Amino acid sequence: MKKEIAFIFDLDGVIVDTAKYHFLAWHNLATSLGFEFTEKHNELLKGVSRVKSLEILLNIGNIELTEDEKQSMLIKKNEEYLEYVHQMTSEEILPGVLHLLDFLDEHQIKYALGSASKNAPLILEKVGLLKRFTALVDGNDVSKAKPNPEVFLIAAQKLKTAPENCIVVEDAIAGVEAAKLAKMTCVGIGNQQILNKADVVFKDMTGFSLEFLKKLINN
Ligand code: BG6
Ligand code: MG
Repeated sequence: MKKEIAFIFDLDGVIVDTAKYHFLAWHNLATSLGFEFTEKHNELLKGVSRVKSLEILLNIGNIELTEDEKQSMLIKKNEEYLEYVHQMTSEEILPGVLHLLDFLDEHQIKYALGSASKNAPLILEKVGLLKRFTALVDGNDVSKAKPNPEVFLIAAQKLKTAPENCIVVEDAIAGVEAAKLAKMTCVGIGNQQILNKADVVFKDMTGFSLEFLKKLINN
């Protein structure tokens, strides 16, 4: 008998590359506050919630703000980020993603989104993928951010399957940790050395070969 499996996808860095837009918006905010925010700094924000990202950014600039000022920075950053998001199209779906989703659909394997982003439904809609997911869990649904496993555990519940049947696809260290804490299998997307807690790491989403997928469903 075939083992039941389900997939849970992170969004940013897995389905689409929105990190570049987050970077532009955070960079401009830092500039307006009078310090430099580099692409290397941006790495620290991957998979991290919006509020936590601002804390990290302010730490880099050694800047202290009141709660009200922080709130208006968060609004400003998100408004600029959304200007980029509104221009997104299906062209921005990362290579390998559609091939994988088609395979899962053909084999009646369900999949959910498990993202820290509060903009996830809008982004999926812009790239034409919103309707394909059985369930969505995003930054609006969780109280504890990755590496807490909450986002993936809710996704498993929505998929009506046990955590051990779930395969999480993640590009951030915090996300890989969350998947492992949820007792799920984790496929890391990116650098093997950085994502060394994942069960397997592919350089990008084209790593899901037919051979790998067939082995997965026949196990
Ligand atoms: C994650 C991104 O998916 O979502 C982070 O990797 C981002 O960089 C976080 O900060 C929150 O996103 P948003 O869209 O709610 O600001
Ligand atoms: Mg990500």
